[in-house]
Amino acid sequence: MATTLQLSTEEKRLLAGAEGPGIQRAMEIVVTLGRIYGAPDLIPVSHVQIAGVSYKNLGDAGVRFLHNWAQEGARVRVPTTLNPAGMELQRWQEMGFAADFAEPQLAAVAAFAQMGVQTTMSCTPYLFPDFAPRRGQHLAWAESSAVVWANSVVGAYTNREGGPSALAAAIAGRTARYGLHQPENRRATHVIEIRCPVRSIADFGALSYIVGKRVGDGVPYFADLADWLPPLPADITQGGEAGDRLKTLGAGLAAYGAVALYHIAGYTPEARELGEALLLPHAQRVVIDSLHPAYAIMDADPDMREIDLVTIGCPHASLSEIQRIAQRLQGQRVRTRLWITTARITRQRAAEAGWVQMIQEAGGEVVADTCAVVAPMRSLGIRRMATNAGKMACYAPMHSGVGMRFGDLDQCVEAALQGRWPTNARP
Ligand code: F3S
Repeated sequence: MATTLQLSTEEKRLLAGAEGPGIQRAMEIVVTLGRIYGAPDLIPVSHVQIAGVSYKNLGDAGVRFLHNWAQEGARVRVPTTLNPAGMELQRWQEMGFAADFAEPQLAAVAAFAQMGVQTTMSCTPYLFPDFAPRRGQHLAWAESSAVVWANSVVGAYTNREGGPSALAAAIAGRTARYGLHQPENRRATHVIEIRCPVRSIADFGALSYIVGKRVGDGVPYFADLADWLPPLPADITQGGEAGDRLKTLGAGLAAYGAVALYHIAGYTPEARELGEALLLPHAQRVVIDSLHPAYAIMDADPDMREIDLVTIGCPHASLSEIQRIAQRLQGQRVRTRLWITTARITRQRAAEAGWVQMIQEAGGEVVADTCAVVAPMRSLGIRRMATNAGKMACYAPMHSGVGMRFGDLDQCVEAALQGRWPTNARP
């Protein structure tokens, strides 16, 4: 029998427009989604992350939509943060962005700010000391890489929201209880066994390609991946080697498949608590004995040697990644553009430690608020890119029409220093 969505008296009042058209419109979206997906009721959310913020994605129609919703009096009721925009908000002129891109982009950010959204401009809210989610919290996050982190690494509950549905949840303060908000939907559809080394961030990206393609929107259960992971740091907002690997894994699983949750035996919270009870009875077994097929596809232009931009930080770089790159560059000078993309708050923390200055002295840039997928790269003259991030290797050729080299961090740093992709063999 179909479930009927039950609304509280307060929810019915908001839906009827008792507090104005802004929240009424938000309730209509949340309730419609709840009815489509057979949700029994609505649940309060403790944090919302909005994606689709770049003017490149929004276009003029999107900017108008945001402006109109803000004018209707819509205001967020829960802490809400924003994904990267198409440019650095303060330094766009010196970085070469055109005014006809920057002005509508700033108008979109202003509309979000008017609604009470915090203009953090990052895809890694889980690395912010003020917003890192906790086990069991219900969230409404729209950034696919962050959704995977929240569900898998933290054991919080969020569906993969769209831009408008996340904003609606923020304004309504609620989302519909369906999908990954219900424990019965969090069981694993596939068991992944790994028979090859998975040593670097790039290797975790390559793994995400193979598993993402294989499981689609399923829930993978990694039986032995913990063997390739050090413990997570006590302060997860630092990133750390494990955090940086998992950040890449989740982003790639969401990009190459549509994964919103995975489990790692003995490592992630639900797998630690429930073990193999998480497996669905028909869970398929997938054995991975080599990452080379993934490298062969992700390193999409193997004959391309000249590089215009090396970009690290997809999802946005953590403190530990910035530190690693700063130390690697010390006393040297890059010959291509080098972007370490990160959150403004993380750049500030890295600057306090002196790492931003070390990267700048080597000629690199620590770029905040944006990334090489959501920024208009071709209008900045970028045609040939290199990265160690799986999601970037997937999206940048598609969204920015660039050639792509994909390899580990050492290869990327070498490419920046030499201005050419190094000739050494793949890891
Ligand atoms: Fe973040 Fe941009 Fe990658 S939004 S996940 S750095 S494509």
